[in-house]
Amino acid sequence: MAIPENKLAFDGGWNYAPAPESTDHIVVKKRYGLFINGDFRAPEKGRYFDTLNPANEEKLSRVAMASQADVDKAVKAARKAYTGPWSRMKAKERGKYIFRIARMIQERAREFAVIESLDGGKPIRESRDVDVPLAAAHFFYYAGWADKLEYAFPGRKAKALGVAGQVIPWNFPLLMASWKIAPALACGNTVVLKPAETTPLTALKLAEVIADAGLPDGVVNIVTGAGDTGAAIVTHPGVDKVAFTGSTNVGRIIQKALAGTNKKYTLELGGKAANIIFADAAIDQAVEGIVNGIFFNQGHVCCAGSRLLVQESVADEVIEKLKDRMETLIVGDPLDKNTDIGAINSRMQLEKIESYLKIGQSEGGEMHQSSCSLPKSGYWCRPTIFTGVSQSSRVVQEEIFGPVLAIQTFRTYDEALTKANNTPYGLSGGVWTDKGSKIFKMTQGIRAGVIWANTFNKFDPTSPFGGYKESGMGREGGLHGLGAYVKLEA
Ligand code: NAI
Ligand code: MG
Repeated sequence: MAIPENKLAFDGGWNYAPAPESTDHIVVKKRYGLFINGDFRAPEKGRYFDTLNPANEEKLSRVAMASQADVDKAVKAARKAYTGPWSRMKAKERGKYIFRIARMIQERAREFAVIESLDGGKPIRESRDVDVPLAAAHFFYYAGWADKLEYAFPGRKAKALGVAGQVIPWNFPLLMASWKIAPALACGNTVVLKPAETTPLTALKLAEVIADAGLPDGVVNIVTGAGDTGAAIVTHPGVDKVAFTGSTNVGRIIQKALAGTNKKYTLELGGKAANIIFADAAIDQAVEGIVNGIFFNQGHVCCAGSRLLVQESVADEVIEKLKDRMETLIVGDPLDKNTDIGAINSRMQLEKIESYLKIGQSEGGEMHQSSCSLPKSGYWCRPTIFTGVSQSSRVVQEEIFGPVLAIQTFRTYDEALTKANNTPYGLSGGVWTDKGSKIFKMTQGIRAGVIWANTFNKFDPTSPFGGYKESGMGREGGLHGLGAYVKLEA
């Protein structure tokens, strides 16, 4: 009997023939300067650093290391653009530029997706289907608000703040840039943004788009560098508003630095979300949700479902199904369209995750990993779960930011709620049950900014995002996200 054509690539197990996305259509320059006042220029001190592909440790490009003097130039360019063309422009015209950026991201979506996966290690399926479309969606959404601010804040006058200084992390590089730039521009501010040191390339591509879109010089400035560059932006006296996403530690440093200044700020920090599975939940669907919640983007997600609370009567079934599902997850080449779990973003992050794997075991937790093979070079971590952990375990309390799930059980609603709330964080959560009443009860009780019911990790530009407790201050996204970029007058 002849083997059907479409079965030829399937070798009888769960191994698919490689289906890599082509890199032919992308352009990554050997070296990037700083995007200041509408042009790429060399950094004052002539220093550059490498950005690698974490899937093979090969150098992709060299990127400028901005000094304080460079940041000063960027802030001055942003100020000049603010007092000049940008604040004099009609809001409707401002909106047109933002729409144009959105459309250009869509036109160049493939290029953005491939570069995102090369530079940061996330699977192409995610950069293609999640990061890039959502980035465009944020520009579209906020473009629409630009000339409608009086409806966003009825009876008040919304005035721009001035220059926004924005520092973003490496887990959603283009998306975080869009989350921050789009509302800032819609409200009439100008921007100095710094991408993370391991993932600068899509922000630099976005700078090219912004130049091509013809925004007035200096409205958006993109400076690359590490923590010192970020600190120079945050503490610059010419910056009126600070927006930061990253670790709780750096968030604390920034909050201290801003205390006593007039700067407005938002901080989006860490998380340790629980997915809560009740016995009456649709179990297969819930298992898929758990997998999406923690293994999505290698667990490099602040709102990841990094804890699982499962009702005792279904715990064995859920864990068994989860282990089965983990075996079918494909870890490997981020550019391969079959890949579920890509590369860990950096050696440093991999070492951090591995240290937690040791901590979890030394605390008495039982570790289980899928048995897949890993590529020889690059940074990789198998999907991992811990059972037998207690509420005080560090793998239950601390943000690992990797594909590592801590599993606990509960008997009653109250026990689930107490456990869910018993961490220093409060960014997100998930509830899985057949009963709408239970969903409402849980969502009232969980102290977290975002709660998903019978789904997980769903994002939309219209919906606000942000945390309680050590997960941060303020909200981004939606109507709430506009409030962070305006001062309201009577
Ligand atoms: P990080 O907080 O150091 O880096 C985030 C951004 O802040 C980067 O652009 C960095 O250059 C910048 N930065 C660093 N120090 C700064 C300072 N003093 N002032 C201003 N900007 C500064 O995060 P890192 O070291 O890359 O990751 C460490 C841990 O943080 C991760 O393992 C994870 O647990 C957590 N994290 C959480 C994120 C989230 O979205 N909640 C994102 C990234 C990391
Ligand atoms: Mg990189």
